Formats: sequence, structure tokens, C-alpha cells
Amino acid sequence: MKECDSSIYNCNVMDLSKIHNPSGNITIVQSDSELPFRVKRVYYLYDVPGGSERGGHAHRTLQQLIVAASGSFDVILDDGFMKKTVHLNRPNYGLMVVPGIWREIINFSSGAICLVLASDLYNPSDYIRNYQEFIELKNG
Ligand code: TYD
Repeated sequence: MKECDSSIYNCNVMDLSKIHNPSGNITIVQSDSELPFRVKRVYYLYDVPGGSERGGHAHRTLQQLIVAASGSFDVILDDGFMKKTVHLNRPNYGLMVVPGIWREIINFSSGAICLVLASDLYNPSDYIRNYQEFIELKNG
């Protein structure tokens, strides 16, 4: 799907596998079975000061799975026509974000860790950081 055609309906919360254990749970995410992409990069946001907002961009080709590995936050997804807010607060839920979606991440709880599994290496030219440019892309 081209980035201009994607919609917030293509961004769903996935229920990741969880193995219960009295001494602590474990969640496994495997590229081929659980995810629609191969993971090439993992990064995580942490020590986010209260009131901070992250994101504020879209990607041209990058696919991502966003997980609240600890604590909670809200992800605002915007496809240029509709918006939805997804509250993430469990380490076994992952929000799939497809290309061509503007995202903002807000309301970080104290100690929150935002874990991101990404389909490609860091590439600044894959970012759309100007909202007007994003809207023009989505309007064809
Ligand atoms: P950015 O993606 O804008 O962060 P967020 O969406 O969480 O607000 O990245 C913040 C800074 O970190 C920016 O200067 C680019 C740098 N960065 C890398 O060098 N490599 C990476 O893989 C990522 C995700 C960011």
C-alpha cells in the first residue's frame, strides 16, 4: 500500500503472545509469525519528562510496532482525514503503525518506556516532519 492511501483503520492493536509465569511474564515478538515486517531496528523512549510530546511526524515507508514496555502513554494517529487515539498500557499489546500516518505520543506516565520495533534502519529522508506537506501528500 502506498503511503498516501493508508488509513488509521490499517493501524491496529495486536495482542502479543504472553507466557504467564509466577516469577514474571514474558512476551515474544517474532518477525515472521507475529509481525507483518522484518525487524531491522529497535529503539525505546524513556525518562520522558511529564508533559512532553514525542513523534510529530509521519514516515514514507517505515512500518513500526509501538509497545508500552512499561507504564502508559497515548498515541494519536492521523491519516489526514481521520484521527484516533490509542491508549497503550500493557507490555503485551503492540500498536501497528503503517507508512503515511502522522503520529504524536503524549501523556507519558512516570517511568514509561515506549518500545518501537521498526522495519528499517534510521533514515532521516523517510520522515515527513511538516504537517502541511503531509496533508498535501495524503490529498494526492
Ligand atoms: P525522532 O524520531 O524525531 O523522535 P520521536 O519521534 O521519538 O520524537 O528522533 C529524535 C532524535 O533521535 C532525532 O535527532 C533523530 C535521532 N534518532 C536517531 O539518530 N536514530 C533513530 O533510530 C531514531 C529513532 C532517532
